[in-house]
Amino acid sequence: MSATRTSDEGAAGSAPAAPFDPRVVRADFPIFATAREKPLVYLDSAATSQKPRAVLDAMDRYYATCNANIHRGVYRIAEEATTLYEDARRRVAVFLNAASPREIIFTRNSTEAINLVAHAWGRTYLKDGDAIVLTPMEHHSNLVPWHLLAAERRIELRFIPLTGPGELDVAALPGLMADGRVKLVSFVHVSNVLGTVNPAAEITRIAHSHGATVLVDASQSAAHLPLDVRAIGADFVACTAHKMLGPTGIGMLWGRRALLEAMPPFLGGGEMIREVSLTSSKWNELPWKFEAGTMPIAEAVGLGAAIAYLQTLGMANVFAHDRELVAYGMERVAEVDGLKVLGPPADRRGGVIAFTIEGIHPHDIATVLDDDGICVRAGHHCAMPLHDALGVPASARASFHCYSLREEIDALVAGLQRARKLFPR
Ligand code: ALA
Repeated sequence: MSATRTSDEGAAGSAPAAPFDPRVVRADFPIFATAREKPLVYLDSAATSQKPRAVLDAMDRYYATCNANIHRGVYRIAEEATTLYEDARRRVAVFLNAASPREIIFTRNSTEAINLVAHAWGRTYLKDGDAIVLTPMEHHSNLVPWHLLAAERRIELRFIPLTGPGELDVAALPGLMADGRVKLVSFVHVSNVLGTVNPAAEITRIAHSHGATVLVDASQSAAHLPLDVRAIGADFVACTAHKMLGPTGIGMLWGRRALLEAMPPFLGGGEMIREVSLTSSKWNELPWKFEAGTMPIAEAVGLGAAIAYLQTLGMANVFAHDRELVAYGMERVAEVDGLKVLGPPADRRGGVIAFTIEGIHPHDIATVLDDDGICVRAGHHCAMPLHDALGVPASARASFHCYSLREEIDALVAGLQRARKLFPR
């Protein structure tokens, strides 16, 4: 395995580890050992990753030994719970190479992290006549919050065009920003459909040179490659635990401290305040100003364990494994008559292969594969505008993680050949 890394992929939070054996890794994931009619072939890690025993055990231990609310009780188990929760934040900060844990805000997921920015930053700083630059390859979570804002104010949405192979035409960005009206550039780091790894540091540099703030949706990258928020240089980065071998229900927003300090809160309620009277309130300091109500404590503990696990594997190894599988997978699926892969070549993408097969609807592909115990996603993958731009209504998608095996790709290809026979051209 050879780690292929660009300056955009950084090197944070990933102590170098020996190249790993995916079979040894896989043995850490109980779901693959669960007895079932057919062995599980899980090729939907872009939707959600599987969880290693270490994550399940950490969450179980928290509930079994020190379940209590955080930042409130003075008794011992409450203090233990608070320590575990804040330890998870420190781990995230190291993993992302943030300057301080205070720059890490826990949210419900990436979607909520982006909505936090749209509400707290966007509604404070964006005015009628401003513009936002997005891309056609965004997940709906990085489109709809801006649609909502644009509907309230006269804000123009602009889009970095796509090139033929499904990459961003970054050379067009300066032109899009030339009139000085663009206040925000918000884009996905790794596309959940095309797998394209966007040049995040380069886009950020161009956006900053035109005076815009930058948000990076790292939902598909934080889980798969060494992500260094300071090397990218953006202002906000959103990610989610459940794609990072962690639990559902918790995500993260990293933001520059000065920006977060200057922003008003997003949600109001317990713990995000310093002082409340009947008619007014004063906010808590960072990061708690943005964490209203009881937070997902066990989930934070699980996330901390997931990060520790990923750090042991080494993110460069995880990414190299994705690249190796994607290269093998693209070569193998090309054997299927009428199959067309969406997106760039293997050496320019993460561990995602979305495809269409002439004459077979993606939902039929997924249903035939399911008969063989193979899990893929079918549909628009929360990226309807991208599918429109590609001229296809939907696609099927296979996606990988550190526990994925070449044999699973062989099983996928055998299943696709069976589908081809069932739906001849
Ligand atoms: N965003 C996730 C996916 O691409 C759910 O499947």
